Amino acid sequence: MKKVTLDEFQALQTSDKIPHLSKDGDGRDIFHLLFAQQFKRPELDALCKLADHIRKINKTVEGTELLGSTLRDKHALNLFVQPSTRTFMSFMAAEQKLGMMTLDIRDVTTSSHAKGESFQNSIRTFSSYVDLIVMRHPDKGACGVAAWEMNMAERRIPVINGGSGRDQHPSQALLDIYTIQKSLDEIDGKTIVMVGDLARGRTVRSLSYLLRNYENVRIIYASPDDLRIGDDIKDFLQRNSMTFEETDNLEKVIPEADAIYMTRVQGEWDKKGGSTGEKSAPDPRFVFRKEFLSKMKKTACLMHPLPKISEIDVELDYIDDPRIVYWRQERNGMWARAALIATIFGVHDRISEFAAD
Ligand code: NCD
Repeated sequence: MKKVTLDEFQALQTSDKIPHLSKDGDGRDIFHLLFAQQFKRPELDALCKLADHIRKINKTVEGTELLGSTLRDKHALNLFVQPSTRTFMSFMAAEQKLGMMTLDIRDVTTSSHAKGESFQNSIRTFSSYVDLIVMRHPDKGACGVAAWEMNMAERRIPVINGGSGRDQHPSQALLDIYTIQKSLDEIDGKTIVMVGDLARGRTVRSLSYLLRNYENVRIIYASPDDLRIGDDIKDFLQRNSMTFEETDNLEKVIPEADAIYMTRVQGEWDKKGGSTGEKSAPDPRFVFRKEFLSKMKKTACLMHPLPKISEIDVELDYIDDPRIVYWRQERNGMWARAALIATIFGVHDRISEFAAD
C-alpha cells in the first residue's frame, strides 16, 4: 500500500481516503471503517443478511458456540472518550458474541495520555495488545489519525469509528439501514423523514450518505431553521442526483413518510445550553406527539438513534404499536455491529454456512 504522511492523508478528500482504509489499499473492502461513504450496496445487503444470520443462530446453543468460536483468539479495545451507552454496550456485546475478549478505556486521564504521550503513540501502544479498536471521539478527525497510525505501524489492526464529533457515525447508519430494511422490507422508493437537530447530529449525516445506495429514495429534512442539515450534505445529495427537501412542518409530512427518524437537540455542543440546559429543549413543532401516530402510514416506522430526551411523547414508550421501532433498532445495533466485525475479520462465510444448514 502506498504510504502517505499524516498531513497528506488529512488533506485528502474523503473519496481519496477510502483506498487507504481497505486491506490492500485498493479500496475494495473495508478494513478501517471511518465514513459511511465506504459502504456500497452489495456490502450493505450482505451485512444485513449476515446480521439476520447471526441473530438466527444466536437462538441455539450450537449457534452461540459457533459464534463464540469465530474470534475467540482476538481482543477488542473500546476506546470511548465521549459519553456513550448504546454504541459502547452494543459493540461490547457484539464482540463478546463473536468470542472476542474486550477491554475498554473511557477516561483518558487514567492513561499515559495524561503524562503527555501523543495520541498516535497511545494508539500504537493499544495496538500492541488488541486486534481491533472501536473508538468514539469528540474530534472529527481523531479516528482518521488512529487509522493512519495503524497503516504506518508494524502491527496494523482495524479501527472502527463509533462516532466522530458532529461528523459521522457510520455503524449507527448501518444499523439504521438494517432497521429500515427489516421494517419496510425494502428501502428503494421510500420516503425517509429526518427530524430535529440536523445541524449537529452525526447520525443523520451518515444515514444520508448511506441512502445514496438505494434507488428513488426521497429524503425530507424537518428541522427549525437554525438546526438545518449542513450544506455539505446537500451538495452530496445534489451531486448524486438524490431527491430531498427541507421543511419546518413535521406534522404535514408525517402522512408521506415511510420512516420517521427523530433526533434530540445536541445541547452538549452549545456552550450556553450544556447537556441539560435550556438549549436542549426541542422546538415543540418538532416533537412527535401521540396523536401523530394516527397520521402515520400503517406500514411506516418511527425510529430514533437514542438517547431521546423529550422529542417523542413519552407515552409512546408504553403503546403497543409495531410501527414504534426504536427499541428494536437499539437491539439491531448489536447484530449489525457483530456482522460488521465478522466481515472485517473475514469470518462471515463460516457464520453464513452454519446458518444455511
Ligand atoms: C447518537 C450519537 O452518539 O451520535 N447516539 C447513539 O450512538 N445511539 C445520537 C445522539 O447522541 O443523539
